[in-house]
Formats: sequence, structure tokens, C-alpha cells
Amino acid sequence: MTTVDNNAPMLSNQEIIGREDINDLQAIFESVGRDDGSVVKTVDNNCPTMFTWDYEKGSRPKLDKLYEKAKTAQWNGSTDLPWDTLVDQEKIAHQSYLDGSRGPIASASLDGTQLATWGEKEWVTLNMEYQNWMLSQFMHGEQGALLCTAKIVETVPWIDAKYYASTQVMDEARHVEVFSRYLDTKLNGHYVMNSHLGLLLDDIVQDSRWDMTYLGMQIMVEGLALAAFGYMHAMTEEPLLKKLLRYVMADEARHVAFGVLSLQEIYSEMNAAEIRERQEFAFEAALRMRDRMQGQEIWDRVGVTPRDAAQVTMMDPDRVLFQSALFSKIVPNCKKLGLLDAADGWLRTKFTEMGVIAFEDFEDTTLDLDANAEGSPVLRGVE
Ligand SMILES: [Fe+2]
Ligand SMILES: [Fe+2]
Repeated sequence: MTTVDNNAPMLSNQEIIGREDINDLQAIFESVGRDDGSVVKTVDNNCPTMFTWDYEKGSRPKLDKLYEKAKTAQWNGSTDLPWDTLVDQEKIAHQSYLDGSRGPIASASLDGTQLATWGEKEWVTLNMEYQNWMLSQFMHGEQGALLCTAKIVETVPWIDAKYYASTQVMDEARHVEVFSRYLDTKLNGHYVMNSHLGLLLDDIVQDSRWDMTYLGMQIMVEGLALAAFGYMHAMTEEPLLKKLLRYVMADEARHVAFGVLSLQEIYSEMNAAEIRERQEFAFEAALRMRDRMQGQEIWDRVGVTPRDAAQVTMMDPDRVLFQSALFSKIVPNCKKLGLLDAADGWLRTKFTEMGVIAFEDFEDTTLDLDANAEGSPVLRGVE
């Protein structure tokens, strides 16, 4: 573990996320992921690989139980989903438009923006681009999860966690596979990784402390994904996508629970300064996740300026509600881990500024998992 200064002050917003104002719309919307033509990207992994000679299976009973559950919950992305379903994306996008859907916009005023003059054709295109972008970001996030859980297998010191994480590597490979196949065979275009998601994934992979992989990926990225999948699952009527999401979500609830169970143990042994660093990382990840949801790459592709994009998304009251609801898993899990109230409630203050603190008493993910265990492969309240 890195040596930390017990008396060091909390880092500033500038030091954590590179800007002082968390709501600097210009900075948020001007950061756009772009295709640089490369097929691969290299990120240094600075975390030591750990062997363990303590092979006693079940010394951490909850992780062992999760491992046993994961072994029997595997499914096959090739054969368990109805890939022969015909999906007419344009027709679905058009129907959504008739039903009042306008891409990522909910109830924003379009006055004074380029979008004020848009007609049916532009809105239907936006609906399709929004779906292409969402599914692309899910796919990239899943690859991040695949790499991070492979990293956890290497770096976590406990055998029960190595065993469990190895099942998650298989889960995440399957998730990348099914999102990629859906994009390739049912939709009409890919997007590169969102720039804010990319910044976070780089930080998670580069961090030298093994527990930060858990916090960044298992709690923050997966926590938001679980909420986003649930939302899309509830909204879509396309049967293949609905089933795909239902299967993925059943796996994801285990993944977030793995993070909570593992971090509870390691955090209970940490000093105040070490916990402060985890709070700062949780805040960074939460902001990156919020910024990642703005769809910068869509606006860039359809030719809407950052200024107009900011006006119609971040200042849209219903959209703000939707975005904050995506934190309904993250905030209670941070609370359960003791991160909200350490250091005089620093993270509580940050989450209050972000407008997401109201979720602190929502059910944490270990309860989602228990609901899953009651014989249903799906998450509570979402079918
Ligand atoms: Fe996943
Ligand atoms: Fe996952």
C-alpha cells in the first residue's frame, strides 16, 4: 500500500478532475472521443501481480458463495438469445419519435439552438444515433470490465476473490460479445469510446493499488451500468435487446456485490488518509460517469455545437432527473462502504453538489443480488 500523509488536505476539484467547476459545460461538451485510426490502445498497468499460497477455499464464505452461484449462472451468448429476431432500427426510431422520444433530450427548451428548426427526419436520425452511441458505450464499458476483472484475478491477494473474479472475466467476455454482435447485426453504426469514460478507464487501469480497480470498476462503472441497463430494459420493446439486457443484468448484480463484499473487508483495515484517497477516487469516477452520459460524440456527429448540446441536455430538468437516477446504485453502495461520511462527510458534500445524495438510502446491490437468488434470473422490479 502506498504511504499516505494522514494530515494532507482533500484534493481540489482541479487536482481530481482537471477543472474547478464541476458544471463547466464548455469543458464537459468540448471533450469528444475521436477515432485516431488505431485498432489498439496501450495503457500501463502499474499494479503488482500477487501469488497466494493460502489455497483454503471458502475462508471468505460470502465470496465463496458468490463464486458457487456464478458457476451455475453461466449462459451462452451465441445460443441463449434469439439472434434471428428481425430488428428494423429505423422503424423503431420513427415510432419512438411519434411517441415523443427525441434522443437524449427530455423536456428541454430548444429556443435559440440549432435544434429549434429540426423536423421529423433529423429527430429520427438522432434517435438512431442515440441508440448506436448507447450500445457502443455499453460495449466499450464491458471491455473495460473484462480487462479490469482479469487484472483483479492477478492482483487481489485472496484465493476466493481470484476464483470469483475468474468467473466474472467470462461474464464480461460474453457481455462484450453480445453487445458487439447486436451493434454489428441489428444497428447501423458504431461510436468510439466516450472521452470521459476513457479518462476514467485509463485511471483505473493505471492505478497501482489493487482495491482501486474494484472501486472504479465494480462500484462506479458497473453501478452506473446496472442502472442504465435497467432503464433501457424497461423502455425497449424490441424482444432481442430486452432479453439480452435481462441476461446481462443478472450477471451485473453479482459483479457489483463482489465489489461491495471485497471492499468492506479491505476498507475496515485502512487508516483515515487511505480512506480519503478512496473518497477522492469515488468522486472522480462519479463525475466522469455523469459527464460520460452527455452524448458528446452524438452531437459532434450530427453537427450540434457544444454550446447548444449543453443547453438541451444538462439544463433539461427531466434529463437531469434521469441522469441523477443513474446514481441510484452508486450512492447507497458508497454509503455501505463508509465512503460518504468519512473525512467530515466530504463525499456526501460532493454528491450533494452533484444532486445525487437523495439516493443514499436506496437499496444497496447486495439486496438486488438476494432478489436474484429467489429463483428469478432478473433484477427486482425490472421485467
Ligand atoms: Fe458486464
Ligand atoms: Fe460486470
